[in-house]
Amino acid sequence: MALAKQIRNVTLVGANGTVGAPILSSLLAAGHKVTVLTRPGSTKDFPAAVTVHVGDYSDEEFISSSLKDQEVLILALAFTAYDAQIPLIKAAAKAGVSYIVPCEFGSDPTHQKLNAAIELMSMKAPYRKLIEDLGISSWIGVVNNPWVEFSMRLGLYGIDMKKRTATLYDEGNTKANFTTLKRVGESLAALLSLPEEDLAKHKNEFVYFSSFYANQKDFLASAMRATGTTEEDWTITNTSTNKVLQDAREGDPSARMMLLFALVFKEGYGGDYSSKVVDYEKLGLVGEDLDAIMKGLAQELAA
Ligand SMILES: NC(=O)c1ccc[n+]([C@@H]2O[C@H](COP(=O)([O-])OP(=O)(O)OC[C@H]3O[C@@H](n4cnc5c(N)ncnc54)[C@H](OP(=O)(O)O)[C@@H]3O)[C@@H](O)[C@H]2O)c1
Repeated sequence: MALAKQIRNVTLVGANGTVGAPILSSLLAAGHKVTVLTRPGSTKDFPAAVTVHVGDYSDEEFISSSLKDQEVLILALAFTAYDAQIPLIKAAAKAGVSYIVPCEFGSDPTHQKLNAAIELMSMKAPYRKLIEDLGISSWIGVVNNPWVEFSMRLGLYGIDMKKRTATLYDEGNTKANFTTLKRVGESLAALLSLPEEDLAKHKNEFVYFSSFYANQKDFLASAMRATGTTEEDWTITNTSTNKVLQDAREGDPSARMMLLFALVFKEGYGGDYSSKVVDYEKLGLVGEDLDAIMKGLAQELAA
């Protein structure tokens, strides 16, 4: 049964970004009081219900005054702008913001084997540590694996809908968790609607979001249904995740680039976090339809 909802004052930074935009829509739909911080020169019209503050993220006076009376700070900044989190985290602590959702939104940072294989995995830890060291706010880290629409558009699941090519890792049978951008937003907005005693259980913890528990073959079959094609229309090749891992270790640039995505489909590397996924019934969210999402992508890619 879904719980009673709590409305919170939430500040979102990066609201016009890939994950920021669906987070913003979901926060508004859930009834939260949303403030957006954005830099001068960023071009985006936000809905009238949003309070917008325009300024530099390193301007202490600007961020401190913007964060007054806020309960949650969500940082959805670009990969290249992670350090912009530092003054924002410090200002949030000064302003007494209870929760910070830092730039995470990726694979499971608690998985030791994955951490050992991918250097990038350790990049986000210092920001969580800073929040803990300041001792005022608590972090909630979102784990969602490579986003469905984002990854399918770029062929990052090994499946290229436009070229109709697929590279299957380990026969394409390894199941893992995958989340749509829309579901990331909805899940976070619903989580932030939990009563305080429930939300507090997530302090300094990761939350695991998931739309689908699926393997490459499931995505490929859905892509075929969405494009009205059959196996004869596709070029399907096989490789192994061990080969990608080995090539990446030897410095092969394309293997290094694809490693994070290939390892999602490798057994024992944390792609399958199904035992940790949030209780969607409690959050009041129902399942999504993979075929409908693939159909939308197929139409978009054909346009
Ligand atoms: N799971 C996945 O598949 C996946 C994929 C990509 C990224 N991610 C993760 O998701 C999080 C958000 O990434 P994203 O792709 O959504 O970000 P994004 O769309 O590239 O950018 C988000 C926002 O960051 C701000 N920004 C950009 N450059 C900046 C700079 N130089 N200085 C300060 N602010 C800057 C901009 O906001 P304003 O213009 O409003 O200031 C921008 O809208 C990151 O933690 C990233 O690692 C996950």
